[in-house]
Amino acid sequence: MTQPAVTHPNMTIVDHPLVQHKLSLMRDARTPGPEFRRLLREISLLLTYEATRDLPLADRTIATPLTEMQAPMMDGPDPVVVSILRAGNGLLDGVLDVIPTARVGFVGLYRDEATLRPVQYYCKLPPEMSGRLVVAVDPMLATGNSSAAAVDLLKAAGATELCLICLLAAPEGVACMAQAHPDVRIVTASLDSHLNEKGYIVPGLGDAGDRIFGTV
Ligand code: URA
Repeated sequence: MTQPAVTHPNMTIVDHPLVQHKLSLMRDARTPGPEFRRLLREISLLLTYEATRDLPLADRTIATPLTEMQAPMMDGPDPVVVSILRAGNGLLDGVLDVIPTARVGFVGLYRDEATLRPVQYYCKLPPEMSGRLVVAVDPMLATGNSSAAAVDLLKAAGATELCLICLLAAPEGVACMAQAHPDVRIVTASLDSHLNEKGYIVPGLGDAGDRIFGTV
């Protein structure tokens, strides 16, 4: 797929073959819900690998069965993962598989289908967000309005180091985030072509929440 021209100071498109293969299976309209969910969890684990690349390490003394050594271990406060409801929950378990000590927050935003603007209905975040890596997860970066609004909330709660993991991004969403929150890193599996008139990502994969939760 040709990459649309959109710029963001800090976006990573994970072109690893495992991610791309799983994504193609997810795009296929015939892929049933249970497989869609499993693939999403697997991809979220692989995207988390990229998103956490700069987590600090410090050497600790451990004993292997053979000898003592200085071994690098994650250092600093536990990261926070924030699921942007409801579709973010499809990515949450994969993140927790690789960062089991992460604290978890939830932000509930629904999209007003007439205006495509986000409306907040829930927010529960761990305390002490400052100084931790805060990873927000939402499979679809479409208009970017929900993600930007969620990041507004996270920054208001003290988050200083933020990353957004999304499965698919539209150029419109990337541009919105670049304008509203250029400091927030984006990690995605694909930058798709465009949004259609209903705000769906094209070629996309349809409504992520419906496909995850079987509400089609
Ligand atoms: N949300 C979705 O679930 N799918 C899209 O294509 C856009 C927003």
